[in-house]
Formats: sequence, C-alpha cells, structure tokens
Amino acid sequence: MTDGKDNSTIIRMFHVHKTYGNKKALIDITLEIAKNEFLFISGPSGAGKTTLLKLLYLGETTTEGQVLIDGMNLSRISHKRIPFLRRKYGIIFQDYKLIPTKTVFNNVAVVLEAMGKKRRFIEKKVKSVLRTVGMEERLQAFPPSLSGGEQQRIAVARAVIGDPKIILADEPTGNLDEDSADIILKLLKKFHTRGATIIVATHDKELIRKTGGRVIHLNQGYLQKITAA
Ligand SMILES: Nc1ncnc2c1ncn2[C@@H]1O[C@H](COP(=O)(O)OP(=O)(O)O)[C@@H](O)[C@H]1O
Ligand SMILES: [Mg+2]
Repeated sequence: MTDGKDNSTIIRMFHVHKTYGNKKALIDITLEIAKNEFLFISGPSGAGKTTLLKLLYLGETTTEGQVLIDGMNLSRISHKRIPFLRRKYGIIFQDYKLIPTKTVFNNVAVVLEAMGKKRRFIEKKVKSVLRTVGMEERLQAFPPSLSGGEQQRIAVARAVIGDPKIILADEPTGNLDEDSADIILKLLKKFHTRGATIIVATHDKELIRKTGGRVIHLNQGYLQKITAA
C-alpha cells in the first residue's frame, strides 16, 4: 500500500459506499489508480460502473468512505475548488452529449471559452484537436448530420481539449459499430501515450480483451476482482 503522498497514485478510493435511497450501488470499494494507467471498469449492467465514475468527478457524492484525487479529499473539497477539480477531467459518454444546435467547432470550443482563453488560441487549438481526431473537414457541420462514430470523435476532441490529466469514458463505444469503436479506442490510446490517465467503463469484454490494461471487475456493487494488465 502506498500513502496519499505517493505521487504515482492519482486516484484512491478507500472503503467507498454509495447508496441511492435504499439501493446499494457500490459496496466497500477500495482501490488505487496510478498516474497514466489505462484502466477498465467492467461488469454487467447495474454493477455500479457509472456510479463509480460519477464519484470521481463529483457527479455524485459518496455515502461513506473517501475518494482522493491527486491527494485532494473530495468529501472535504470546498465549493470554490470544484471547478478546478473538474478541469482535471475530460469525460466521454455513450450518447456523446454534443449540443445539436452548435457547430462541431463550437461544441469543442466551449471548453476553452469557459476557461477564458483568447479567441486566437481557441481557434488554433480546436483545429489542431479536430485534426487529431480526423474531423478537421467537418468543423462547420452540426452534430445531427454526423454518424455516431463521428459524433463520438467530436466528443473525444471536446474531452481532451483542456489537456485533462484524467479521461473518463462511460461505455464510449456502446452505440458504435466495431470499426468506429476501434477508432475511439485508438484515440484514447493516443492520449494515454501523451500522458493522460484513462478510465473506461464498459460491459464489453471483447473490447477489453482487444485493448489490454488493468481491469476492475464490479458485480452488483462489489469489487469482485482486479486483473493485472
Ligand atoms: N440516480 C439513481 N437513483 C437510484 N438508483 C440508481 C441511480 N443511479 C444508479 N442506480 C442504481 O444503482 C445501480 C448501479 O447503477 P450504475 O452505476 O448505473 O451501473 P452500471 O453503470 O454498471 O450499469 C443500479 O442498480 C442502478 O439501478
Ligand atoms: Mg453505466
């Protein structure tokens, strides 16, 4: 076991429980995630995967136990610091969550606008990230005119544009065909190589097998086992 000061650990969960009403979604979860890991959270529907991710970015709060991000204890974090915590994350959802009435460019630019970046910088950076995900030709398109795989590439661009330390992806390939899924995984691997910690929740065992990485197996809220990379 390492202590909270060990700088190779970016996330620690210590005896975490989460209940919704009387439904136990997570039960006594203790785990550590190292900086720059590529990690899967696996398990069947209802296992607690989404809940676990939500606890990391304060989409939900723990019922019991501790979550530490970069040594920051989330149960003690002040309201003022929550925006700084959120900036550590890029988040990708199964259903993309793009704004249909904004162009591709603006969907991605939003993140940097919220950070108060200058227009010139935003333009350069958005174009560069869209090039990385292979969508630079579609910057004036609107999301509903794109395929699912293309929309998810835009969502990846939006997730990474603020240079987050941690990328959380919740069933990122759940709505995609195999080829589009492969593209998304390749992109996640690219940002992993560039130094991000990647955490992917999925029930897709084949995807995990193909990709490799440590796997946290959840079942009905319990951490069933951890398999090494
Ligand atoms: N907001 C909520 N209110 C009540 N129950 C919830 C809520 N969110 C999730 N649950 C329940 O918690 C359990 C875990 O859900 P979830 O984390 O979404 O699992 P997974 O992502 O693995 O499918 C499920 O039984 C689910 O029905
Ligand atoms: Mg889920």
